[in-house]
Amino acid sequence: RTKVAVLISGTGTNLQALMEQTKKPSSSAEIVVVISNRPGVLGLKRASMAAIQTRVVDHKLYGSRAEFDSTIDRVLEEFGVELVCLAGFMRILTGPFVRKWNGRLLNIHPSLLPSFKGVNAQKQALLAGVRITGCTVHFVAEEVDAGAIIVQEAVPILTNDTEDSLSERIREAEHRAFPTALELVASGTVRLGEDGHIIWNQSG
Ligand code: GAR
Repeated sequence: RTKVAVLISGTGTNLQALMEQTKKPSSSAEIVVVISNRPGVLGLKRASMAAIQTRVVDHKLYGSRAEFDSTIDRVLEEFGVELVCLAGFMRILTGPFVRKWNGRLLNIHPSLLPSFKGVNAQKQALLAGVRITGCTVHFVAEEVDAGAIIVQEAVPILTNDTEDSLSERIREAEHRAFPTALELVASGTVRLGEDGHIIWNQSG
């Protein structure tokens, strides 16, 4: 089974969905470590409850992004990690880190990319007045919220939606999309090609 690290910054509901998927005997992936850049968050507790190892790499304790990223990288090597899932991880990773993990680094974003990149994607969608938004799981590229798309799920925007009600509806879709994408990559059904595009392997 593919050894996976999940990087979080907060609540960890996506982490929870990934943990539930990977504990199934049919899963091609196993989560070996959960890393948070913020101490004391609920996601760390969720991991402990599932008997998964946790590490805190507090970005505030590092003088530069490079030092922070190389500490994360050291933890990943320590656990023999093969695939990294960013699940509500709110730090931008440096070029060298992203290049090293190219094709092995997945992120979830609360919009249908390439629309509404960056922070507050749900609010951006409400302000833009679109009637459909959603979530995207993609391979991480050096440019923020770019990179080849693995799975997307559309979510309607309802007339009385607030940022909270919309975010909640998107989260439910995320909890389906992220486990699906992880299984596709961990099983070898989907991979990132040299040219930065997705390759589907029929015999996966
Ligand atoms: C999710 O909605 C995820 O898409 C978003 O943070 C939330 C984390 O929720 N990520 C980003 O906005 C990345 N820029 P969770 O901690 O409950 O999984």
